[in-house]
Amino acid sequence: MKELLKSLPKRDRDLTNDPLWYRNAVFYEVMVRAFHDSDGDGIGDLRGLIKRLDYLAWLGVDALWLPPFYPSPMRDGGYDVADYRGIDPRYGTMRDFEKLIKEVHKRGMRITIDLVMNHTSDQHPWFQASRTDPDGPYGDYYVWSDTDQKWTDARIIFTDVETSNWAWDAHREQYYWHRFYSHQPDLNFENPAVQQEMFDIARFWLKKGIDGFRLDAVPYLFEDEDNSGENDPRTHQFLRDLRKMVDTEFPGAVLLAEANQPPHEAAEYFGTEEEPECHMCFHFPVMPRIFHSLKAEDATRLREVLHDTPVPPAKGQWSTFLRNHDELTLEMVSEDERHQMFDWYAPHPQMKAHTGIRRRLAPLLDNSEQALELAHALILSLPGTPCLYYGDEIAMGDNVWLPDRDSVRTPMQWTPDRNAGFSDADPGALYLPTVQSLLFHYNGVNIERSLMQPTSLLFWMRRFLKARAEHPAFSDGGYKDVPSDNPAVFSFLRTHEDESVLVAMNFSTHQSSALLTLEDYAGGKVKTIISKTPFQDVGDDGTLRLTFGPQSFYWLVVKHA
Ligand code: GLC
Repeated sequence: MKELLKSLPKRDRDLTNDPLWYRNAVFYEVMVRAFHDSDGDGIGDLRGLIKRLDYLAWLGVDALWLPPFYPSPMRDGGYDVADYRGIDPRYGTMRDFEKLIKEVHKRGMRITIDLVMNHTSDQHPWFQASRTDPDGPYGDYYVWSDTDQKWTDARIIFTDVETSNWAWDAHREQYYWHRFYSHQPDLNFENPAVQQEMFDIARFWLKKGIDGFRLDAVPYLFEDEDNSGENDPRTHQFLRDLRKMVDTEFPGAVLLAEANQPPHEAAEYFGTEEEPECHMCFHFPVMPRIFHSLKAEDATRLREVLHDTPVPPAKGQWSTFLRNHDELTLEMVSEDERHQMFDWYAPHPQMKAHTGIRRRLAPLLDNSEQALELAHALILSLPGTPCLYYGDEIAMGDNVWLPDRDSVRTPMQWTPDRNAGFSDADPGALYLPTVQSLLFHYNGVNIERSLMQPTSLLFWMRRFLKARAEHPAFSDGGYKDVPSDNPAVFSFLRTHEDESVLVAMNFSTHQSSALLTLEDYAGGKVKTIISKTPFQDVGDDGTLRLTFGPQSFYWLVVKHA
């Protein structure tokens, strides 16, 4: 395996000098504990990740996103931070982390990390001080109250485990506010000292050389009676200030918002051109609609949500994704759609978590090669920077018998050998067991095998990542809906300067045909992107008739006549 990885051609793209790098990058979410274990203790670590960087560079990934690796009691996958400036010893040392940054940059890639500002672990020294010494310097770091009847309109996010956003602290004899688990008390952003701490923590990591942050749970920083605890104007003000600091002191570093909100509310996290907030926002409304449209075999809802999606201000960019380390959240769809999607995608109760579905991409799409390619082609061509989830490039499976979202956080599968080549440890010592289900056993689903098979999804991904990088229309182009007479066929144009890319996709699991209307391109020449060969011209009446195999698609360059 080592030899195989060494023999892969090197990457030839360098994004380290481009201040707008995030606009034409492909991100890859990689959990340190899940990727590669270098010291045989059963837990992935920073040195393991460094060893596997050449693989990611070969694949065509441009930027990493690392979920939290800070010291943590690990009751919420590390999103329960106990020390914002440390590295959990299970993953290595600060030196290892500094080496990782260097090695990433050496390959022309970028690295972003999670910044969890909304809450800490209840084991964080600030919280321990706050509950035991209310009059001390940390007494006001959290949101305390004598009553649990305040802000009762704020929705409960982890509805299946929490019954209130307040929890009682027997020592301080007061309630504290928490939007997530009760062991994750919310920080009090009304306290200027808390805001200052966050600026200092951001500076601490940026000075080390990271290229930005994914801002975890960002809509919940400030709470107020009038806004159900979300999207408070003071949260936006705080983000404007943070952006100003980042742009002035660390130009080129990015802020990526995790704001699970409807299109307009999510877009507010970009701010405006004059007063920007985040460079990027995950496109939460579009993600579940992709899954809805695929199963419904009808693109109408997807077209609608894209129609409702505001264009970000200059320098802003959406981030498209299919899956991540969380459940496939269904908070952004209507109640009807949610029921439908639970029926389609979560036939067993074990598959549900919170308001979503805790399964990986390949099992969700019935491990269908066409569907996996179609879904990826979609996030690679819609407006925004795609963010991939580790393992999805080889159609890794999940384990819904593990608790909560651990179902989708199992070890990366490198080889058919012990522990899938992830670790030399005793299999019982792994932080989570490898996937051994009948369909997705690591014997058959792993990098080594994918590298042996030129027609594998892995090679497909590499080819399409490369094609995407060669066409700026995908990263910088505008989006224009292209009418089709078949609701199963989704079509749009991405245009940048004098290049237009036409994307046409058949969501039906049967053969289809559609007549597309491309008035501005009457008589225009068409070429395929992947094979770079001439295709049929647009008719003189501005229409193009396309026929499709089941769940197939076209990426085409269209030229004016
Ligand atoms: C974010 C994370 C999720 C975590 C939650 C609370 O939504 O993605 O994993 O549980 O924040 O920190």
